[in-house]
Amino acid sequence: MSLIIAIPKTTTPDEARVAASPETVRKLAELGCEIKIEAGAGINAAVTDDMFKEADAIIVKSAEDACKDASIILSVQPPAEDEIPFLSRNALLICQMNPYHNAPLIKKLSDSGVTVFAMELVPRISRAQAMDVLSSQANLAGYKAILDATEHFPRALPMMMTAAGTISPAKVFIMGAGVAGLQAIATAKRLGAVVSATDVRPAAKEQVASLGGTFIAVEDEEFKEAETAGGYAREMSADYKKKQALLIESHIAKQDIVITTALIPGRKAPELVTEAMVKSMKPGSVIVDLAVEQGGNVALSKAGKIIETHGVKIIGHRNVPSRLAASASALYAKNLFNLLKLMIRDGKLEIDWDDEIIKNIALTRDGTTLQPQFTPEEAAPVKKAPVKKKSATVKKEDSHD
Ligand code: NAI
Repeated sequence: MSLIIAIPKTTTPDEARVAASPETVRKLAELGCEIKIEAGAGINAAVTDDMFKEADAIIVKSAEDACKDASIILSVQPPAEDEIPFLSRNALLICQMNPYHNAPLIKKLSDSGVTVFAMELVPRISRAQAMDVLSSQANLAGYKAILDATEHFPRALPMMMTAAGTISPAKVFIMGAGVAGLQAIATAKRLGAVVSATDVRPAAKEQVASLGGTFIAVEDEEFKEAETAGGYAREMSADYKKKQALLIESHIAKQDIVITTALIPGRKAPELVTEAMVKSMKPGSVIVDLAVEQGGNVALSKAGKIIETHGVKIIGHRNVPSRLAASASALYAKNLFNLLKLMIRDGKLEIDWDDEIIKNIALTRDGTTLQPQFTPEEAAPVKKAPVKKKSATVKKEDSHD
């Protein structure tokens, strides 16, 4: 009997992505797998059932039909609790588990004997780059953040010299020059903006410059040590944050668009833009907070909302990669396929539990939670600070709330 891989339709509100593409279905079939996809699973990502069928998938009516005999379940989001009974004992679930915030669900999956791999925990080593969902999705989010900003920005981005006069280029400031931030810089540059960026990791300096951006940062001793061995940023000291705020304060007042992307894995996102800074910006300015779901980089941002305050719009869309569902799904599916290639031999699942990648992503096995930091006892909740000021009015709810 061949290895059955299930792709159920997501039940997470406002999630449009799907964990397979016709290309990856075809490639998995070539590896000897049988792929069962719940009807309509790809429709919000512009993939019809017929496209999946042509690629050799079997379309089934329900998530239960897809999952009941499956050895591997692929999804974008974690399952809802009432979907856990569809997963057979010893099945391997591979998804974005959001492990820092889902300890109780991980425990439930572990208790029901499901093996869980979390794609966000793929290590940042060169061998794993093609499996790195944080990069593939953040890259699209950085691009989309600029487009979302331009939609609300009442001016043009490039310099325009016309018979009627000259329009100066917009000034765009990117806070956090990681994967999303660098793509935001590149996109804003392509649109003709004058771009600057900040980060706490020294490696970002050269990357920002290579994209034509101006780098602005407090480059003290702490800055030199800010990158962890895993490639992420450390949480900075209160003293550094103070110096950083002073530097940013004067710069931000001259900006038209600010995109914030700063994250620290497993921690609340650092607050980088205060209400006073928002107030200092010109009317019509726009801020996009890509870190809004991790607590937010902007004091007033609100997940799933667009706030207007002091004449400035603060955009806090949830799940930005899903706003480009077709591209995001194609890349996510490829990330999953590149991981599965490691584990499927002659149509059989053969997991090397000593492989560095597997060790990082494996959360549960044989009824045990493997990484203590993701157990309900150890996990710390991350909260978004409430919007305090009455002056902030919610202009419009977006479709992601
Ligand atoms: P991230 O999404 O965790 O954070 C975004 C950015 O915010 C980072 O550049 C971080 O340094 C910055 N940040 C954090 N705290 C900040 C603060 N207080 N002020 C200003 N900025 C702050 O990071 P991301 O984008 O996932 O990756 C960071 C870097 O990791 C990349 O630029 C790249 O060099 C490296 N990377 C390596 C990969 C590999 O080798 N396989 C794959 C992907 C990324």
